[in-house]
Amino acid sequence: RTARFTLDPAFTVGTAGPRLFGSFVEHLGRCVYTGIFEPDHPLADEAGIRTDVLDLVRELGVTVIRYPGGNFVSGHRWEDSVGPAADRPRRLDLAWHSTETHRFGLSEYIGFVRRIGPEAEPMMAVNLGTRGVAEAVRLQEYANHPEGTALSDLRVAHGDKDPFGIRLWCLGNELDGPWQTGHKTAEEYGRVAAETARAMRQLDPGVELVACGSSSRAMPTFAQWEATVLQETYDLVDHISLHAYYEPVDGDTDSFLASAVDMEAFIESVVATCDHVGARLKSTKRIDLSFDEWNVWYMSRSQEQARAADPHDWPEAPRLLEDNYSVTDAVVLGSLLIALLRHADRVTVACLAQLVNVIAPIMTEPGGPAWRQTTFFPFAQASGHGRGQVLDVRVDSPTYVTRRYGETDLLHATAVRAEDGTVTVFAVNRGRTEALPLDVTLNGLGLTGVVEHSVLADADPDARNTLDDPERVVPHRVTGTVLRDGRLTTVLEPLSWNVIRLT
Ligand code: AHR
Repeated sequence: RTARFTLDPAFTVGTAGPRLFGSFVEHLGRCVYTGIFEPDHPLADEAGIRTDVLDLVRELGVTVIRYPGGNFVSGHRWEDSVGPAADRPRRLDLAWHSTETHRFGLSEYIGFVRRIGPEAEPMMAVNLGTRGVAEAVRLQEYANHPEGTALSDLRVAHGDKDPFGIRLWCLGNELDGPWQTGHKTAEEYGRVAAETARAMRQLDPGVELVACGSSSRAMPTFAQWEATVLQETYDLVDHISLHAYYEPVDGDTDSFLASAVDMEAFIESVVATCDHVGARLKSTKRIDLSFDEWNVWYMSRSQEQARAADPHDWPEAPRLLEDNYSVTDAVVLGSLLIALLRHADRVTVACLAQLVNVIAPIMTEPGGPAWRQTTFFPFAQASGHGRGQVLDVRVDSPTYVTRRYGETDLLHATAVRAEDGTVTVFAVNRGRTEALPLDVTLNGLGLTGVVEHSVLADADPDARNTLDDPERVVPHRVTGTVLRDGRLTTVLEPLSWNVIRLT
């Protein structure tokens, strides 16, 4: 059977802006050290940033860069990460059982973001686990106040005359999680988040603040947590965060391929919760969603690795969470991108967790090369062609049955109309064995031809890019996709991520 949908410019979801294509740099494993920062590497620039990695980061098209954690931020003292690098303290990082040297800190992070390019934007998390209001505002003053106060002059003395201009701030990280240093109840967190937000707005009413939502939809406190936190913070914050990671459970690939069903339901539940609190407060304000951690993550393997680690060992930049992604993982990641785009009316910030080495689209070898994982490609293509008006896509698709989600559409799709009127269709065929014919009716879009149909698929769905074979998997172009008389027809390969550009 053929999958079908109709595109019409009169029916849109919302605008997909640059902030949907953010990422995340945490002091975790080798994301920072030997990932983006490796002063001894032959390709490092004068600031110690690996230029081979920087080139890939630009090609990936990332915008917002969330920093410095993650779980790491809940034990972080920002003062340790500024000033002359040689004077910065070495400290134990409880979150990842590592030693943090602070060789890379706040100034280096801002330098990295600026090097990426004009679209890149910092997103800084403050520590509301082991610290509170005072430390958060002091960090904000150090970072953003022009000069003439002790803290802003300290930044100038440290060599950063220009303020960092950080607009987006996360009020802590995953404080609903018992693993979080300084874990809190929703009431405790809601109060400290509200008071931190109030103080940060006193310093600068223009900041944009993200309150912590649940660390996953599976948390027992999910939804009640959001409702309680928003009841305290509704008028003081702009976003609530969502985090979600997916992996196959008990080898159930069919359900894994349908992970976006869970992601879309998660988004819709958080929207409902935000709007419920807004209604209770009789507020006309709308809270948006910051999906600031999402990815495929073989978390069960990381947990095993953590259990096996020597409790007396506190290594510097160990190899942690270095998942090597397959074609199947890339197709799932593409589908998660489709889910975000389909909700671009409310999800206005999103960060792929993480950027380099740690559950990342970019991998590096210390002193050696950097390369693209399979997951690099869907992200780069979505960032490159997924900006503009998201068209409302209601698919009529053949289905398959999954253990976890029941009857599920084989086709997952969205479409984005750019400012110049061109349209890109993003589509995933979740079927592992059968090709899926697709027929799209195009109404009133004035489109006349297919620019390109790019596919990520492979005879071996387990194929991966590795240090020894870094280009084993790359997207390929297909022919036979036709646009004629307002109808687009094509066939989607089994288990494939597709980008069809129309003009
Ligand atoms: O991204 C890895 C970890 O996942 C982050 O540190 C934490 O916020 C989440 O649990």
